[in-house]
Amino acid sequence: MVTVKVNGVARSVDVPDDMPLLWVLRDELDLKGTKFGCGIAQCGACTVHVDGQPMRACITPITSVADAEVTTLEGIVATKLGQKVRDAWLDLDVMQCGYCQSGQIMSAVALLKETPKPTDAEIDAAMDGNVCRCATYTRIRAAIKTAAGVSAADTREV
Ligand code: FES
Ligand code: FES
Repeated sequence: MVTVKVNGVARSVDVPDDMPLLWVLRDELDLKGTKFGCGIAQCGACTVHVDGQPMRACITPITSVADAEVTTLEGIVATKLGQKVRDAWLDLDVMQCGYCQSGQIMSAVALLKETPKPTDAEIDAAMDGNVCRCATYTRIRAAIKTAAGVSAADTREV
């Protein structure tokens, strides 16, 4: 039995020690906001926060986060910053197929927590590991700027 704190609530799960956090979230705790993309830390679809830092849930054994605070998309959108980012995403219609967007939002929130007014270069560096096969990168950057209160006019997709 492993106990992990997810979105502020301690949850106990009876799973193998090496089960990835991603499977625990989706299959044991029914938190489907975190997505499976590649399973090998290459795409960022499974990004969650562990003690506030973005982390790939697909390669994170559950026992390694037993003493940590895990936050998923469901938890982040309940925060003020998470709501701001979600609203910007909706306002700018960022999503296409939507599959990568949970991970994108988690990385964007982590960036804005550390750097409230990021430059383009800081946004690109922070979002570098989140792949979008629909190529919504321009809208993602614009939404991050909107959430940050920085002019997005020069970054809107044409
Ligand atoms: S599913 Fe974890 S990085 Fe792709
Ligand atoms: S919106 Fe389709 S993969 Fe990003």
